[in-house]
Amino acid sequence: MSKVVLQAAGLKKSFASPNGPLAVLRAVDLVVHAGESVSIRGSSGSGKTTLLQLLGGLETPEAGEVFINHAVQGLVTPRKLLGHGVGFVFQNYQLMPELTALENVVLAAKIIGQSRVEAKARELLQLVGLGDRLRHLPSQLSGGECQRVAIARALINEPAVILADEPTGNLDETTGKEVMKLLLDVVAQRQTALVLVTHSREFAEKAGRRLVLAGGVLSPA
Ligand SMILES: Nc1ncnc2c1ncn2[C@@H]1O[C@H](COP(=O)(O)OP(=O)(O)OP(=O)(O)O)[C@@H](O)[C@H]1O
Ligand SMILES: [Mg+2]
Repeated sequence: MSKVVLQAAGLKKSFASPNGPLAVLRAVDLVVHAGESVSIRGSSGSGKTTLLQLLGGLETPEAGEVFINHAVQGLVTPRKLLGHGVGFVFQNYQLMPELTALENVVLAAKIIGQSRVEAKARELLQLVGLGDRLRHLPSQLSGGECQRVAIARALINEPAVILADEPTGNLDETTGKEVMKLLLDVVAQRQTALVLVTHSREFAEKAGRRLVLAGGVLSPA
């Protein structure tokens, strides 16, 4: 079996609510191997985004631990966010509006101290089909194109795993299918693991392993 790139054990997370603590994740365990794709479905409010934030170190669990490439994942500072073995793709792209497509991808590498990354960023933008949109601002790109930039950005630091939270949620059906195909193709080509949160049964079924989050635990779909 290939090596483990992400391991979560006993993750627990609650939020304060007017009626007392709201237990969102009760005991989440997950092991993802290099190059593996895993989909997670679950009803709205079941805790999928919360789980990805814990996996990526954007939030800390109340109990349990996350390991990326065997290192314990503490709370991640913005500087470390994009360069610690994890790449993120969000539903709403989260591009910097004042930067071009190329600059958005370059920035993700510069944040972790990489220099001379422009050629690599150009290559990745070509890979996602945007070789002729390098100087466009996000406002000059379509939704599908913005998400392609975000995929290139997620790849630039060669993460072990990409965490994608409803990456096609803002896209029309045809564009969503194209973006999903691209995401699955690039992770397969590069042997990058993928944890894909989606409401779409069709997309979830394209992953190598399918899980459902319900009642605060993950189980096979
Ligand atoms: N910062 C917070 N403070 C209080 N409650 C929160 C907070 N973040 C999330 N929650 C609650 O935790 C639950 C899980 O939220 P989460 O965003 O993880 O759900 P989700 O499965 O991603 O839903 P969706 O499919 O709608 O995106 C929700 O009931 C939400 O209201
Ligand atoms: Mg969500």
